[in-house]
Amino acid sequence: MQNNTELYKTVSQLMLDGKGILAADESDGTAGKRLALANLPNQSGNRQDFREMLFTAPGIEEFLSGIILYDSTIRESTDQGVPFVDVLIARGMVPGIKVDGGVRQLDQFEGEVVTQGLDGLDERFKEYYKIGARFAKWRAVVNIGEGIPTNECLELNAVHMVEYALIAQANGIVPIVEPEVMFPGSHTLEEAEEVTTRTLNILFSTLKKYRVDLKGLILKSSMVLAGDTNPQQSTADEVASATLRTFKLSVPRDVGGIVFLSGGQAAKRATENLQAIASFGKQPWPITFSYSRAIQEPFLLAWQGKSENVSLAQKALLYRVKMNALAQLGKYDASRDTK
Ligand code: G3H
Repeated sequence: MQNNTELYKTVSQLMLDGKGILAADESDGTAGKRLALANLPNQSGNRQDFREMLFTAPGIEEFLSGIILYDSTIRESTDQGVPFVDVLIARGMVPGIKVDGGVRQLDQFEGEVVTQGLDGLDERFKEYYKIGARFAKWRAVVNIGEGIPTNECLELNAVHMVEYALIAQANGIVPIVEPEVMFPGSHTLEEAEEVTTRTLNILFSTLKKYRVDLKGLILKSSMVLAGDTNPQQSTADEVASATLRTFKLSVPRDVGGIVFLSGGQAAKRATENLQAIASFGKQPWPITFSYSRAIQEPFLLAWQGKSENVSLAQKALLYRVKMNALAQLGKYDASRDTK
């Protein structure tokens, strides 16, 4: 049995009260969608500027315990030549790395996808560890539709996550497993709850079967939400109740922590929902945010690719992470969130 003390230490560094994780791990292609909000073309120089401004924003370390990076980003440096990883470590934020290789259509299962990226993973983890990464992320996509998701697809994704998690842990890296039940769609809150519960039950029974150390692992989950085109949208209280009910039925108590993705919710709504979850009080696991869009969008809109806007944009970023940190503590007041 390997000694997982280092993994537990990383989990406790990440899951701190009043802090969350920034997901800045968009692939080079997806980064284009973020840059479009700032009216910038998807070029490597713009991606580097974007990330440099995020990672050097004054004050964010008070509210962020870690930042997830992408393969190209973890190798990049500031304009002054300081590696991004060193910037994060010096500011007390743990660097993480997205390692999955995106999804492919699952043959014979229309509308369902499986995540790829296990090839060469052991060597990649060894290199990422040397660069400074101490946690990783692997995302699976769960679509809700007529007859889907099937258990077969959920099982296959779970087995891939087991392999990823075992290889990560053997290399001293905390795996985040992220089965994202997609928000886009017309499904009801009840359907989202059934699918999320089934997804997590299958995932955790598979992780347990293959003896993944759950204490050294973090779940990244979607909140339970009615689909974005369903006219019957859920209140923050409904989201919080359904999400916590789901977790209680499917997430073992020894899991190191739970973090949320934002999934396309408006920034303020993602904060309000987190606040509603926190207001239910202490849970068996530490819970916090790990948003990408709901944190980065206000920053990008304020920046607009102009150097004179950088300070304003960094303040918008700081403001948003602070609001989410307050929500994690159950101390966020939406009526005073004016931005
Ligand atoms: O994989 C998804 C990201 O880590 C979270 O992104 O908050 O925009 O859903 P999001």
